Formats: sequence, structure tokens, C-alpha cells
Amino acid sequence: MHGPASPAPDVRPPFPAPLERRPGPITFLRTLQRNPIETWTRAHFEQPILTGRGPLGIGAVVSDPAAIRRILVDNVGNYGKDALQKRVLAPGLSHGLLTSEGEEWRIQRRALAPLFTPRVTASFASAMARNAQALTERWARLRPGHILDVQPQMAQVTLNILGETIFSDGLERDPKEFMEAMSQFFATIGSLDLFDLLDFPDWMPRLSKLRSRPAVAFFQSAVEDMIARRKTLLAGDQPAPEDLLTLLLRAKDPQTGAGLGDLEVKANIMTFIAAGHETTANALTWSLFLLSLSPEWRERLAREADAVLDGPVEGMAERLVETRAVIEEAMRLYPPVASLSREALGPDDLCGRRIRKGTLVVIAPYVLHRHALLWNNSNRFDPSRFLPGARDKIDRYAYLPFGAGPRICIGAAFSIQEAVLVLAAIMRRFALLPVPGRRVEPVQRITLRPRGGMPLVLTTRT
Ligand code: HEM
Repeated sequence: MHGPASPAPDVRPPFPAPLERRPGPITFLRTLQRNPIETWTRAHFEQPILTGRGPLGIGAVVSDPAAIRRILVDNVGNYGKDALQKRVLAPGLSHGLLTSEGEEWRIQRRALAPLFTPRVTASFASAMARNAQALTERWARLRPGHILDVQPQMAQVTLNILGETIFSDGLERDPKEFMEAMSQFFATIGSLDLFDLLDFPDWMPRLSKLRSRPAVAFFQSAVEDMIARRKTLLAGDQPAPEDLLTLLLRAKDPQTGAGLGDLEVKANIMTFIAAGHETTANALTWSLFLLSLSPEWRERLAREADAVLDGPVEGMAERLVETRAVIEEAMRLYPPVASLSREALGPDDLCGRRIRKGTLVVIAPYVLHRHALLWNNSNRFDPSRFLPGARDKIDRYAYLPFGAGPRICIGAAFSIQEAVLVLAAIMRRFALLPVPGRRVEPVQRITLRPRGGMPLVLTTRT
């Protein structure tokens, strides 16, 4: 008789060791610019709320689910998006949903909600599955044992999917030039300039941004042309494609009937691409990395994909429950948006802690998701935490890859569906394994990505 199967060995993926104490102001600022997740101390992972004065002013780092609920939901009116965040995201994205506030945000959120209903999201499943399939066909042509950097591969597939769901009739310009200009544009917004961190006035040129001006101009004018072309089409009696651009141009605030202006349409196209591209690509990249460390979960996902992927595309993502659990666990350990920040507009009380007006309030999914008070074996890769039955035991405000409350990510269901379909297609055909001896290091730009990409060894499934 065989004894019980020995449990799979613990998978403890790498992350920077927390500091034992707070660094001095110069080291802090330097580290913040190099890699913000290296500034967290052990106390952040053990205490529910930490307040104090730092080089960026008075701050509070909040990892208490009840306090988070107060900030993001119950007393949300007292917490606005902070100046640094808005400045980093400003070029191209102002007057879009991510950066707008107050009445402008409310009108846009009401007008844009119909673009992300479950029905509309489900209608994009075949474009997602088709792009996933095309990706695996390209990989099948590579020789087994090939070392493949999966990060740019995931960036490409998520960009193609967004491109197809926003502009289903294609790009008017040379797609290669468009993609390059877009990558440059997003690399520009992704960098934290020291001048921004130190709150230097806007008229002082940011060197990091000057270089990419021509690409930014090209990208913006390409988007303008596509909007103009579609408006002409919608004005005539030709049938218009049912994609996000048509929906945006037809979007109306249900309370006032007002549509969006040209500037807002453009800002929201840029916002959807900016907010939805690298985030989803990184969720997939980290999932592939974690799976490279776990033969058990690779096998489970491959079998699930075998059982589900030949069936109808409708409801497919919902049937891929284990695949989804891996993605959720990857976003717990490596949340693409590693920290959220707000500014207290007035004083408040957070679970007995006084918050002064002007405090920079930070809710860091990266810290929250590994917090000693909230998770068992918090640094261990264990997707079963997210399987049906176990998932309901997770406090709603202890797991925030998409934020929470009225400003929760509008594209959450879109990106989960996309990530699930792409990951399942890959796991069905391939086993990606770690490159021996290579160190993997998470680094926070705007999103949390692996430093130097994510090369993995491509092998076909036997
Ligand atoms: C894994 C993928 C994604 C992650 C982790 C993610 C994460 C987030 C987070 C944390 C927020 C809230 C920010 C805050 O409260 O300060 C947010 C907001 C937003 N996201 Fe996503 N996102 C993802 C994909 C997408 C996609 C695919 C789209 C659009 C196609 C999108 C569009 C937006 C927009 C427009 C907002 C602003 C919502 C508002 O303020 O009303 N995101 N996202």
C-alpha cells in the first residue's frame, strides 16, 4: 500500500526583505525613486496603522481592513487623490476617469459604467481567446528549451486585446509605429521623476519626459484621427463596430443625458490603455513566474484547460476556477498596483488614530496582502486560498488588487476574464520553467514588474 502522497514543497517566491527600521530622509528618497517597495519596514507588515512625519510630509500607512473601508467607502468624501499621483499620471490622462475628481468624475463614471457591464465584457471574450490562441501558435514555432522573456510577450498580447476591443476596425497608422509610440508614451508616464517627488513646480522641465515628446505627439494625434474617423462613420447610416470607441462616443450620463466631449473621449481611450495594459500584463507575467516554481499547479491548470478550452467561449472564464485562483494569488503576492494613495481633505478618526487634514494616506496592497495579522503563511504561494469556499473567508478589505468603493477599477472583470483566458491557453500547451541561477526581483514603477524582464525556459507539455 502506498502512504499518503507527500505534500508539495512550500513555494516561497522572492521579495525584498523588509527593513528593520526607517531609513534617513536621503536614503528614503533615493530608495523611493529606485524601488518604492524597498522602503517598507518590518513594522509595516505587522502593525495595522503607522503614522508619522517623513520627507514627503505627514503620512499614514493603513493596513487595517476597518480603517480601509472608512477611507474608501464610508467616509470617501474626505479623501481625494493626492497631488503627486495626479502629476505623474497627468500627461494625456487628465479629464479621464482615473484622474478626474468631484462632479467631473461622477458624471464620467455614470456615463462609462455601461461600457463595462458583464454583458459587454463577455462580448469581448472571443477577441481575447483568439489573441491568446495566436500567441500560443507563435510560441509553438520556437524550439523547446528556448529562453523566452514572457514580460514583453504578455505586454504585447494585452495591448493587442485592448487595441482590438477599443478600435475593432484596426489602426489607421502603421500598427508597428503606433505600438512603439504608445510604448514610449507609457514609459514616460511610468517613470517617477525626482522633481515630481520633491514637488518642484510644473514649469521646470522633467528631463525624463523631454526625450519622448515626438512619440507622445504621434500617439496622441493617431488617437485623435481614429476618433474623427469613427465620428464620421457614426454620423452616417453605415453600421458601426460595437467596440469601446463606439460605446464611448455614444456614452451619456443617464441622469442628464449629456455625452462626453472630444477631449474626454480621447483622455478615456488613453486611460483605458494606460490603466489596462501593463497591469494585466504584469498579473500574467507574475502568474507564469509562480507557476514555473510549482509543478503541482502547472499540472492542475493544464488539466483544467484541457477540460474547458474546447467548450463554448461563453462562460468559459467562469469555468476556469483554478486558473483564476492562480491569478488572484499572483495579484496578492505581486499586486500590479502596489500602492494607492489619498490626501485627507479634513481631519478624521481611523480606528482610534487621529488623522490630520493634509495627511498623505497610503493603502499599499503590496503590504496589506502580506500582512502578518491578515494572512496565514503570507509569503507562501498558495492559490487554494482563492478557491470557492476558502475565498469567502478573506476580508473584503484585506485583498485590494482593484481597490474598493466608488473608485474601484472599472476594468476589473474585463482584465480578470482576459488574464484567465490567456493563462489557460498557455498552460494547456506549455510548461514554462525557471532559468537556473537567475534572480527574480519585483520593482515598483507605476506597476509592480520584474526587474530586467521575466525570462523563462519554454518547454512543450508532454
Ligand atoms: C490586472 C489588471 C488591473 C489592475 C490590477 C487594476 C487596478 C486598478 C486599481 C487598484 C484602481 C483604483 C485606483 C485607486 O483607487 O486609486 C483602478 C482604477 C481604474 N482602472 Fe484598473 N486595473 C486593471 C485593469 C484595468 C483595465 C483592463 C481597465 C480598462 C480597460 C482599467 C481601467 C481603470 C480605470 C478607468 C480606473 C479609474 C476608475 C475610477 O477612478 O473611477 N483597469 N485600477
